[in-house]
Amino acid sequence: MATTDLKLSNGVLMPAIGLGTWRADESGVLAQTIKTAVALGYRHIDCAKIYGNQREIGQALKGAGVPRSELFIVSKIYQNKHRPELVAGALDEILDELQLEYLDLLLMHWPYALNPEISSIDFVSSDIENVPIMDTWRAMEDLVESGKVRAIGVSNFNRAILDKMIPQCSIVPAVNQVEIHPYNQQTGLVKFCRQHGIAVTGYCPLGGTKISVMEDKFIQRVAEAHLCTPAQVALSWALARGIAVIPKSTSETRLKQNLHQITLTSDEMRMFAKLDKNERKVDPGRSFKELEWVFHEDVADCPVI
Ligand SMILES: NC(=O)c1ccc[n+]([C@@H]2O[C@H](COP(=O)([O-])OP(=O)(O)OC[C@H]3O[C@@H](n4cnc5c(N)ncnc54)[C@H](OP(=O)(O)O)[C@@H]3O)[C@@H](O)[C@H]2O)c1
Repeated sequence: MATTDLKLSNGVLMPAIGLGTWRADESGVLAQTIKTAVALGYRHIDCAKIYGNQREIGQALKGAGVPRSELFIVSKIYQNKHRPELVAGALDEILDELQLEYLDLLLMHWPYALNPEISSIDFVSSDIENVPIMDTWRAMEDLVESGKVRAIGVSNFNRAILDKMIPQCSIVPAVNQVEIHPYNQQTGLVKFCRQHGIAVTGYCPLGGTKISVMEDKFIQRVAEAHLCTPAQVALSWALARGIAVIPKSTSETRLKQNLHQITLTSDEMRMFAKLDKNERKVDPGRSFKELEWVFHEDVADCPVI
C-alpha cells in the first residue's frame, strides 16, 4: 500500500507515514521488521545515529527488494557532532552505517550541543557545550551541495528558536520533527512551521510507551465508531492536520494497521482539541536545568543561536 506524500519546500516528496526505529532492535527483530515494513509499503524510515541500530537497518534495506530511489531515509546528527568541523564527518559516519550513498533528509537531532567525547545518552551538565546552532546549521547547509543529502531539517526546535534562526538561514529547515500526539498537540508550533514552509513530522505519535493516548476514552469511542483501533485514530488525526507520522512497531499486524488511515469527521477533529494537555514523553529539561529552554519558549531566550 502506497502512502501519501508531503511536499517539502525544495520539492522533495516525503511519505506521510514512516517507520520509527528508536528501540526497534530491543526485541531482536529489527532486520525482519524493516523487511516486513517495506513489503507492506513503508518507504519512509526514521533513523538516528544515537539509536545505535543503523548498520542493521542498512543491511536489512539492502535485502528488502526495493530500489533506493523509492525509499525516503531520514537520519539525525547527534549533539556530540555540533561543532561545524565535525558535521560533514558525522554525515559520512551515518551513510557508512546505513550503507547508503545519500540521505533523503538529515536532521539536527536537538538544538543543543554536547562535548564530542560523549557518544551515548548518558551525559552530565558539564558535557553541554555552547556551540551556536547557526554554526552547525551552516555546516549542514554546505552538505546539500555535496549531493549526500536531498534535504536538511531540525528536530525538537521550538518557535522562539526557529524565529531567530530563519532570517539567518540560506536554506530554511525543510522539516521540524517534534513530539506530537493528542496529549501534546503543539498547535502554535505547527501553525508557525506551516507559515514558514516547514513540514512537520510528529514523533511518538502514539504517545510512545509512557503516555496512554490509546487508553483515552474519547479516542476509544471514535475507534469503535470507525471500526478501527485507537492507534489508527491517533495517527489519522495527525495526518489530517498535514503532519507526517513515524510510529514504531515490530509487530506485522500493527505495522499493517498503522498504514491504514481513516477519515475523521470535522466534529471529531474539533473535539480532539480538548485532549491537549502539553504532556511530553521526551524533555531533556526534566533532567537538566540548563536545557529547560529547549521546550519552554518563555525561557527560550535561546542561549546558543
Ligand atoms: N526526534 C526525536 O527526538 C525523537 C524522539 C523520540 C522518537 N523519535 C522517533 O519517533 C518514533 C516513534 O516514537 P516512539 O517509538 O517513541 O513511540 P510511538 O511510535 O508513539 O509508540 C511506539 C509504541 O506503540 C506500540 N504500537 C505501535 N503501533 C501500535 C498499534 N497499532 N497499536 C498498539 N500499539 C502500537 C509499539 O509497540 P510494538 O512495537 O510492540 O507494536 C511501541 O510500544 C521513534 O521510533 C523514533 O524513530 C524521534
